[in-house]
Amino acid sequence: MIYNRNFSEIDRVKIYVDNIQTYIAESYMLLFNHNKYNEFNLHKYINQEYRKEYFGCLIEAYLHNYNNIRELLLNLKPYVEVEDVLSVNTNGGNAVNTTLKDYLYLHRDWCYYEEGEKQVEIIDNAIKNSLPLKMESALFLGCGVGRLAVELSDSFKKVYATDKSYSMIWHINKLISENNFEFYNPQEKNIYSLENVAKKHTAFIKEDIKKVIREKVDFFVSDILNLPINEDSINAVFSIYFTDVIALKLWFDKINAIIKKEGYFVHFGPLDYFFSDESEMLTAKEFRLFFEKNGYTTITDKIIETSHLNDANSFTYKVYRNWLFVAKK
Ligand SMILES: C[S@@+](CC[C@H](N)C(=O)[O-])C[C@H]1O[C@@H](n2cnc3c(N)ncnc32)[C@H](O)[C@@H]1O
Repeated sequence: MIYNRNFSEIDRVKIYVDNIQTYIAESYMLLFNHNKYNEFNLHKYINQEYRKEYFGCLIEAYLHNYNNIRELLLNLKPYVEVEDVLSVNTNGGNAVNTTLKDYLYLHRDWCYYEEGEKQVEIIDNAIKNSLPLKMESALFLGCGVGRLAVELSDSFKKVYATDKSYSMIWHINKLISENNFEFYNPQEKNIYSLENVAKKHTAFIKEDIKKVIREKVDFFVSDILNLPINEDSINAVFSIYFTDVIALKLWFDKINAIIKKEGYFVHFGPLDYFFSDESEMLTAKEFRLFFEKNGYTTITDKIIETSHLNDANSFTYKVYRNWLFVAKK
């Protein structure tokens, strides 16, 4: 048995966290505040006198997204206690004033657009070229909406994929149990024509892939600082666009303990560091040295360029020179 404790299940999402009430209240408030952003835009655009067609597109998009999030909130609501919500430490009116991150990843992962497929293919090929063809088990840290875990699953008998975000795992489950999920990533600017303002995106998982997921990919919520996984139980741990989310020193011991002898650690991403402590913003060389000092042998150390979360409706997109690092224990 790979798990070392029981989970709670809410709206089909498996959750391994110690204080489930606090976690649910925090997740609820995060999504609730995000929906204020959708609401705010609706109010702003609804009475515009000029460029009616442009604002019409935006209103349709924000309204649709608003209703999507409302569905998530309504399903969560029965599990939320008022006292827990009141004690959630939020920053007042500080709504998440951007498109939900989940939608940027759903766009890349499950809409099959050329630009997203290209990024997935480059990552998949680069990693597969650095690892043995068949292994027992893999763990994906901060898996998002899961495409890369699914794509790389053909090298493993069993795949575990975890994310701290309730909605990321909820969206995967939604796609597995239903056919289509529609959403918008509205673009107010950097666009060629009105057609690009608010394209409706349809995410779906093909039936054969759903079968693969049901058979061998286990998606669950957990914090990587408190993983529900037994020590010495995983052949390869993947940190794809995740290493820069939390400082290495906070998670290394736990991940190291989980990886079996002769198992692998795989990093892919630009070391973009989303925290503020410069002393933990290791260079690739420092990161590699840290692993080597802790008994790992470097198998791969190279740079691979990809676009990142590229949406062809926009004039702008990010390009990353990703560092691929594979180390063997
Ligand atoms: C930049 S995204 C990468 C998603 C995915 N690896 C991919 O490339 O498609 C980072 C992910 O890490 C998750 N995350 C952040 N902190 C986490 C934590 N402490 N434990 C587990 N997941 C976390 C976020 O919710 C987010 O989905």
